[in-house]
Amino acid sequence: MLFMTKIQVKDRENTMKKKTIVCVVGARPNFMKMAPIIKELRILKDYVNPYLVHTGQHYDQAMKASFFQQLGIPEPDIDLGVGSGSHSEQTANIMLRFEPVLDKVKPCAVLVVGDVNSTIACSLVAVKKQIPILHVEAGLRSRDREMPEEINRILTDQISDRLFTTERSAEKNLIDEGIESARIHFVGNVMIDSLLANLEQAIPFAETLKSYQKINSIQQGHYALLTMHRPSNVDDPHILKELLQSILEISQKLPVIFPIHPRTRNRIEQDGLSDLVNSDNIISLPPVGYLQMLGLMKSAKMVLTDSGGLQEETTSLGIPCVTLRENTERPITVEQGTNTIVGTDPEKIKACVDDILATGGKLGRIPEYWDGKAALRIVADIKRLYL
Ligand code: UD1
Repeated sequence: MLFMTKIQVKDRENTMKKKTIVCVVGARPNFMKMAPIIKELRILKDYVNPYLVHTGQHYDQAMKASFFQQLGIPEPDIDLGVGSGSHSEQTANIMLRFEPVLDKVKPCAVLVVGDVNSTIACSLVAVKKQIPILHVEAGLRSRDREMPEEINRILTDQISDRLFTTERSAEKNLIDEGIESARIHFVGNVMIDSLLANLEQAIPFAETLKSYQKINSIQQGHYALLTMHRPSNVDDPHILKELLQSILEISQKLPVIFPIHPRTRNRIEQDGLSDLVNSDNIISLPPVGYLQMLGLMKSAKMVLTDSGGLQEETTSLGIPCVTLRENTERPITVEQGTNTIVGTDPEKIKACVDDILATGGKLGRIPEYWDGKAALRIVADIKRLYL
């Protein structure tokens, strides 16, 4: 083109300057972390093209599609369709399918969130190609190396170039592992960005439960919400049975709503434990969407869970949380929030629930920078360093 208008010249300059950041999601807890980051990156559309990769680690409609829609995440640019498998199979398959994407797209950085197999798999591919890795939710440590997520967290952090943290303790963990403080940036919690942005659109609990006949027994603020999917809780039939028996007892005092993760559903069926969840006071549901979950959480008397994200979301909402694990990688939810770690001992679980019923549970306060602006801080940092 011989003659170009000023606008055409500017457009062309912008296209040449525009860089690509590959953003990776794979499993359910990644979606709410990525949504606010993509939204902020899209504001910088003249400088950056966020290229969204879904590894397909979670593929059920209930574990995937409704989240994209409800969180306003654009359709992924590519879905690697890896599906389930052993951890090694899943990780290796993601790596094999991710490498050609980087060859084609040639990004200036790869942004990963959280601690799932997709996080470490894509980070490994990026580091071997010397592409900078930006890790959101870096530095959390449970100190429990039997958790697959703990391994994913430690390894991803070791090879990341920029480490965005959600709480102050994470920075100390990283420095103790030899990571330079200059690479660490405390930005707050992107999961809370999503929560605050979507709270008004939360679907009321009664709406989610309306097709369940037992709904009449469930009142606002008078039920417990339960989620459970950790291999350490659901893969051992003895532990799973004891946990479900405790829940059944609790449900005699307080009805329980239980959206069941596919892994847990499979285990309950295989272990012949279905009777324990088929009680009048337990409503078991398939996995629910993000806005349904927010609605169920905010109207609950308490939440019982082994999830990481729910420990943080309940702290933000001021709802007591009973964590069915022996440890947490998110200590601020215990120190400042509403979380109590009880493990899997039935007596401890029941005592904690009784205490919340009697006293209302811990009040808690909102941790520093859990203010809905974490993604803004992350993208400002990316702009400064990479664009
Ligand atoms: C993964 C994450 C975990 C996260 C959880 C949230 C790792 C190591 N674990 O665990 O950190 O808290 O997601 O949900 O990455 N399945 C389906 N449909 C699906 C997905 C899974 O039926 O869409 C079933 C399959 O039987 C599969 C099992 O669930 O084998 C486990 O799925 P997988 O993705 O391996 O791990 P999660 O337990 O979901």
